[in-house]
Amino acid sequence: MDGRDLVRAVKDLGTERGRRAWRSAWRHRRADAVGLPRRGAERARVPGLLTGTEARPGGGVLRFARSELVVRVAVGGAVFWGWDGAPPTPSYAVVGTGPDPDPRAVLEPDTGGGWRVVSERVTVAVSRHGAVEVRTPGGTVLRRELPPRWWEPVDPARGGARWSQRGEVPADARFFGLGGRAAGPRLRDGTYRLWNTDPGGAFGPGTDPLYLTMPVQLVVADAGTHLVFHDNSWDGRVVLREGEEGAGSGADRPGSSELRMDGGPLRCWVLVGTPARVLQGWAGLTGAPAVPPEWALGYQHARWGFGSAAEVRRVVDGYASRGLALSAVHLDIDHYDGHRAFTVDRERFPDLPELALELRRKDVHLVSIIDPAVKAGDALHASGLSVGAGGAFVRDARGREVRGEVWPGECAYPDFTDPAVREWWGGLYEERLAQGFAGFWHDMNEPVSFAPFGDTTLPRSARHSMDGAGGDHRSGHNVYALTMARAGWEGLLRLRPAERPFLFSRSGWAGMQRYGGTWSGDVESSWDGLRASLALVLGLGLCGVPYSGPDVGGFGGSPSPELYLRWLQLGAYLPLFRTHSALWAGQREPWEFGPETERAARAALAERDRLRPYFVTLAHLARRTGAPYVRPLWWGAPEDRALRDCEDAFLLGDALLVAPVLECGADRRAVRLPRGRWYDTATGAAHEGPGQVLLDAPRGRIPVLARAGALLPVRSPGGGAALEVWAPARGRTGGGVVIRDAGPGPAAGEAERYAVRWDGDRVLVEDEAGEAVPGVRVRGL
Ligand code: GLC
Repeated sequence: MDGRDLVRAVKDLGTERGRRAWRSAWRHRRADAVGLPRRGAERARVPGLLTGTEARPGGGVLRFARSELVVRVAVGGAVFWGWDGAPPTPSYAVVGTGPDPDPRAVLEPDTGGGWRVVSERVTVAVSRHGAVEVRTPGGTVLRRELPPRWWEPVDPARGGARWSQRGEVPADARFFGLGGRAAGPRLRDGTYRLWNTDPGGAFGPGTDPLYLTMPVQLVVADAGTHLVFHDNSWDGRVVLREGEEGAGSGADRPGSSELRMDGGPLRCWVLVGTPARVLQGWAGLTGAPAVPPEWALGYQHARWGFGSAAEVRRVVDGYASRGLALSAVHLDIDHYDGHRAFTVDRERFPDLPELALELRRKDVHLVSIIDPAVKAGDALHASGLSVGAGGAFVRDARGREVRGEVWPGECAYPDFTDPAVREWWGGLYEERLAQGFAGFWHDMNEPVSFAPFGDTTLPRSARHSMDGAGGDHRSGHNVYALTMARAGWEGLLRLRPAERPFLFSRSGWAGMQRYGGTWSGDVESSWDGLRASLALVLGLGLCGVPYSGPDVGGFGGSPSPELYLRWLQLGAYLPLFRTHSALWAGQREPWEFGPETERAARAALAERDRLRPYFVTLAHLARRTGAPYVRPLWWGAPEDRALRDCEDAFLLGDALLVAPVLECGADRRAVRLPRGRWYDTATGAAHEGPGQVLLDAPRGRIPVLARAGALLPVRSPGGGAALEVWAPARGRTGGGVVIRDAGPGPAAGEAERYAVRWDGDRVLVEDEAGEAVPGVRVRGL
């Protein structure tokens, strides 16, 4: 218990919930004291020298004196390796049995007594000591993993090995990813923990870890881009250190990334190529991102503390009467009866289905929060107890149900790593659908158990099914929310097969995108919090989770009108665009911040609405290609070092560059441009990249630039679909893809491709058949 814990602990003793949390924390500590094997003496191990090899499809097995390494290059170029014979599946991240081995990739002798596997896109070379190098086809080293080290209990009954492995990357490399990191998107020198954690209060850039961690790093260097994924859900730490270039002397110090894991397999995937290729490979490996329903790409309003149905109506009418586009309203735990999931407080929300219908007629959808913890002793708990042989809930090493303290009081936790439990849980969404809810917001699923000291989650000794493999919370913790998302997603598909589910979740893990998105969680209401919001969305996108967004305005405080507005202006260009705030925080309706803010907010909301067809296209493209909607400026030019270090702007798809205002009082800002011509969409002024320009950012708007030649689908003032084109530079061409929503179901619309070119003094847009498309608005002339 540190000083902060102590203060927390003493304060908590003053309330009934606090006293219960004390008791639950003690119980958890005791459960671990009894249920976790003491490791006792440990022995260190390294692989030793290579003793033999055996060819297998796509690579082979390399035998060392004290370990065995499986190397396999898959069709498409993904590289897998596993120490101590670790196979690629089963895995919570990788879909199915993983990609097939590439039959053309064979194990062959390399220089220095090592071996290598050469494939079209990548070469993997293993030294006779067990160092593994990933090289480009030209022979440049992208990553070099030194031989791993294990520490295993002398008595094997006391558990598996802890391990560490250090990788080296080029001196100029930059690290991104590791899930949602407030300090990103560029991950500077430091230690990043891999343990999904509710920080227990509003967080800022200094808080780490947060709710959604994953062992996925995207590494960008002059030599190339690669993604490395250590497929292991255990607790661990990643120590990152950027390299240093030895100015001309050639004495570079490489960057390094060291993984220290508390257990679990040492197995790893590496994908190399352009950022777009790498993310495409990642989506192929771990699943295509879910496409949210069209309405979930519009503006949404949430609040913890909607007191009643009447207040919901007041807020919705407030938006409507002011002509502010609103797509969804989210109901937090206060609409529950006693904070219990899958219930309704009928006094304050006497007729929820009727309210939902009324809102739907106004094109406003209702979204429900879902917390996983089930109040001990109530009807839902009883229903869970009859699932399977042993009931639905997580048990401790002695077979007793693990209880924790959450909003409803003392709770039990469904074990979502059990298929029978997922099926039961998925069926519960029927009640939500009957209440009229159209979307689901998974929360508190790290999972949280309030505690005045120690970890605010389940005891590490708690048992999980792990889909039949058996395990404890040390391996189950980080996949808890992922498997909860799977339960919800599969349940919703069973209940409403004709609709794409809308689901987003606070916590998650690698592969999360298959079921939905995520959001920032409780980001602090400050300029730092605003900056952290963008870092999270960018970083998560590079880990393959393209749909996310922050609590606009921050969660826990009262933002100034200026901060609120700048946040809203940023949010308008992020996939999940949602205002939200805590019970004790101020309102987030635009009109609460005065007429000037309301006017500017109206413009931001209207622009989001106009761009909705573009967001639909980006959502479908994400599913087809794995490319996030929100991309770092270096996405198309990872070799451009100035872009690589630019963290305060982003690309929205191929067409737009968004430069939010992240500083108090700023009314202009520097914007770094990638190569090519860019138009300021507000003034029409053209700027040539690469380079940096200073642009006006008055209170009413943030700089948004369009790429010359870009084509984007927009909503016309009459509400119909329209195309907008930004003139290519003279002598240049352009174009774009449009994917329209084919309805609420899983079927995707056809991709329409358009070419843009100059024809004399006109800019012409042609469809795939070469026919000129009439009525396109050409801008930038
Ligand atoms: C958590 C969530 C927050 C929600 C609150 C009450 O703090 O992160 O969004 O409003 O719980 O449910």
